[in-house]
Amino acid sequence: MAAKTDYKFQGWAGDAPDSIEGKLKWIDYEPKEFAEDDVDIKILYCGICASDISTLSEGWMPMKDNWPQVVGHEIVGEIVRVGSNVKNGLKVGDVAGVGAQCDSCLKCKYCDDHKENYCHGGMTQTYNDKFHRTSPGSKSWGGYANYWRGPSHFVFAIPSQVDPAQAAPLLCGGATVYSPLKQYGAGVTAKEVGIIGIGGLGHFAVLFAKALGARVTAISHSDHKKEDAIKLGAEDFLITGENVPDAIKGRERSLDLLLCTSNAPDMPMDAYLSLLKPGGNFVLVGVPETGKLPDISPFTIIMNNVHIGGSAIGSPDTIREMLDLVAEKNIQPWISKYPLSKVNEAVPAMVAGKARYRFVLVNEENGGKM
Ligand SMILES: NC(=O)c1ccc[n+]([C@@H]2O[C@H](COP(=O)([O-])OP(=O)(O)OC[C@H]3O[C@@H](n4cnc5c(N)ncnc54)[C@H](OP(=O)(O)O)[C@@H]3O)[C@@H](O)[C@H]2O)c1
Ligand SMILES: [Zn+2]
Ligand SMILES: [Zn+2]
Repeated sequence: MAAKTDYKFQGWAGDAPDSIEGKLKWIDYEPKEFAEDDVDIKILYCGICASDISTLSEGWMPMKDNWPQVVGHEIVGEIVRVGSNVKNGLKVGDVAGVGAQCDSCLKCKYCDDHKENYCHGGMTQTYNDKFHRTSPGSKSWGGYANYWRGPSHFVFAIPSQVDPAQAAPLLCGGATVYSPLKQYGAGVTAKEVGIIGIGGLGHFAVLFAKALGARVTAISHSDHKKEDAIKLGAEDFLITGENVPDAIKGRERSLDLLLCTSNAPDMPMDAYLSLLKPGGNFVLVGVPETGKLPDISPFTIIMNNVHIGGSAIGSPDTIREMLDLVAEKNIQPWISKYPLSKVNEAVPAMVAGKARYRFVLVNEENGGKM
């Protein structure tokens, strides 16, 4: 039953690119009109994803007239309102969350095929986007906030064995790496897996590749994360350093799958690709702010028969499967918490690369636990 809405939607908003320097402001805003397949979530936790930063900074593209923006798409909280047409069993009081996608057309062939993240009409992103299916034209608002409203199809019950704070960053960061690791057979056809960039996504990728049975090589630009990567489950650690071709000497053609979570604008693509065995796959999930990939020699791809692909977040089915795996194998994401009220310290710390490995904002007023 839909309850009366006696709460206000408020959150930390950016209104210019320099908001990532600690200038987010607490604002009131109007969410989409409540549809009968929507739920409202009282937010307890929200992870900070690098995409939040690249959106606010306009690193990928100008915001144009979309300011102000409340970002955050790794949201977990308590369901406080459920529409009469919610079909996936969610109820008031459940601990549940939403990731980077909050809607799609739900009727194209990709949606029918449970690949809503590749909806033919395009996904509605959890922030910096507009709804189309219900409340058309209404703006989407993210999770650095007190409440979230949106379609229940993209809201997931958090298994009781999983800590809700750790669950939050799984919903974008975790899903984004779990999805291609599964698609490209990590631990099954791809026994030797390399993870490039040990940040938020990269640390999830090491945890998941290991849990799926692969032998993991962590590939990092410095030696700072070596001990952590081994603790996370990597068997091997490759420091790419200043001279990447030198660093990889002797390791050519050693990996079946390379998952690249780095967003470095000057990625040494030829060197990375030479780590793959013939027939191997390079899958990109990191998005450099230049909007371009560095040059790749055609010979690297042709003479080694390597494949280059990309992957966007995870479908609802994939997210549920990931959450079940986390519960079953007791996978422990490495998070550190900031009170939501200190978001203007947390965001600059994320920008400075200090997260080990995901910052999670805690809404203590709503009952989130530090
Ligand atoms: N495809 C999708 O659907 C999707 C979903 C979510 C996020 N993303 C994107 O994925 C990327 C990673 O996100 P994240 O939250 O994991 O970010 P993050 O925590 O900042 O991690 C990025 C990692 O990339 C490496 N790196 C970054 N800049 C570098 C540089 N200049 N030189 C060398 N290495 C550098 C670092 O790893 P080392 O220190 O180990 O080298 C860093 O820890 C972002 O671009 C984000 O927007 C994509
Ligand atoms: Zn994200
Ligand atoms: Zn669709």
